Amino acid sequence: MEQEQLSERPGAAPTSEIGTATKKVFVKTYGCQMNVYDSQRMTDALAADGYVGTEAIEEADLVLLNTCHIREKAAEKVYSELGRIRGLKAERARNGLETIIGVAGCVAQAEGQEIMRREGAVDLVIGPQTYHKLPEALRRVRGGAKVVETDYAIEDKFEHLPQPRRAQIAGRGVTAFLTVQEGCDKFCTFCVVPYTRGSEVSRPVAQIVAEARRLAENGVREITLLGQNVNAWHGLGPDGAEWGLGRLLFALAEIPGLARLRYTTSHPRDMDDELIAAHRDLPALMPYLHLPVQSGSDRILKAMNRRHTAEDYLRLIERIRAARPDIAMSGDFIVGFPGESESDFEATMELVRKVRYAQAYSFKYSPRPGTPGAEMDDHVAESVKDERLQRLQTLLFEQQREFLSGLVGSGMDVLIEKPGRKPGQRVGRSPWLHPVIVDETAGEIGDIVSVRIINAGQGSLFADQA
Ligand code: SAH
Ligand code: SF4
Ligand code: F3S
Repeated sequence: MEQEQLSERPGAAPTSEIGTATKKVFVKTYGCQMNVYDSQRMTDALAADGYVGTEAIEEADLVLLNTCHIREKAAEKVYSELGRIRGLKAERARNGLETIIGVAGCVAQAEGQEIMRREGAVDLVIGPQTYHKLPEALRRVRGGAKVVETDYAIEDKFEHLPQPRRAQIAGRGVTAFLTVQEGCDKFCTFCVVPYTRGSEVSRPVAQIVAEARRLAENGVREITLLGQNVNAWHGLGPDGAEWGLGRLLFALAEIPGLARLRYTTSHPRDMDDELIAAHRDLPALMPYLHLPVQSGSDRILKAMNRRHTAEDYLRLIERIRAARPDIAMSGDFIVGFPGESESDFEATMELVRKVRYAQAYSFKYSPRPGTPGAEMDDHVAESVKDERLQRLQTLLFEQQREFLSGLVGSGMDVLIEKPGRKPGQRVGRSPWLHPVIVDETAGEIGDIVSVRIINAGQGSLFADQA
């Protein structure tokens, strides 16, 4: 579920609420939306500790990198950034200023102490399950210690992280992420997530509903529920019954002010009837589904330990489309998994042609230390991976263009999200996650307005008032 667009966004911490605070934190987030959510929660924990956010790294007393380990490139980016930050730290030291450097996220969990061996300027390494210990860890660092916190905590980190204050949430816009499930027990043979995030844990219903309520009370209109296997979420409902994600979505849709719901990322094996029924019966559930398949070859799916066939996946999509005909499909693909032949790759292309994706992410296989895939024979040459990725992306891009141009002339509801780049414009969000450029007279931020699409750009749409 790593979204390339989301990588490298500087942390948007609240800036002006604690007039007397002098400490500043700069947070940089890599990887998936769960990291984006975690960065926010860490920022809240740090605000309670007297830190205010800054987007200027050179004035930060604390630099926190929230990292991703999913592919080699993602992990290597962290080390090159750390090299740059080492220079900043030395520069600030010459001016008598101290800088704490912290590494959080999945590289922290996967590499632990090793990070400090490779980059001596790092003071703190903290894994995703221990963020509630951040203020305490920072006190130890200020006392002169080098701190590594990567145990899987027994307690619930979310319960121990402070809730953001009203003004903090209010400054964050009308859409929000809410992590409901963490970790993964699926052990796909290419993937590090089960090792970096630990085993599957679902947050309790009451905690999720309370957080969603608080977001809605502060102007949030659209919530995306997050989890590595979000559709495996389950919990005991207030009615004493065991709820699945479908039932949870119905409950969240009742919250006043909340107009739109989404969830990501799902595993094909965990799409149950109740969740498919939610797509049919719940207008607040947006008609968009990210359902990674990785490959269209049964042989490769088996080697990946995905535990379903291409045909299972296609049949599942048929059922989902029968429930919600306007649903747009999104997916993830890996090319060049060990042993992938030309005909295996052709099977992936064939599956893509059958599904017709509105949007997708595709990656070259990257062997990750400690995963079974890395130990397999028959690794595919880099040049072959490049060539396959190119072919796949050309096809996916065509499908994306087709989906976009198919929307021209149609009407849709758009959630007005923020001011546009040009004066007089606003940017809204389509039911299928496209940015939609509208005139500012179309509505205020937070409004849901009916528009008519007059043109399609590269990934965005232009609309008139309907
Ligand atoms: N939990 C999600 C995916 C999490 S990782 C799921 O099961 O679908 C996000 C995406 O990164 C994956 O869907 C996969 O396409 C890609 N990915 C994961 N490990 C990879 C690796 N070793 N090399 C290349 N891509 C990888
Ligand atoms: Fe990784 Fe597979 Fe788990 Fe997704 S389901 S996080 S790809 S191991
Ligand atoms: Fe990356 Fe960790 Fe997310 S490895 S994709 S940041 S769960």
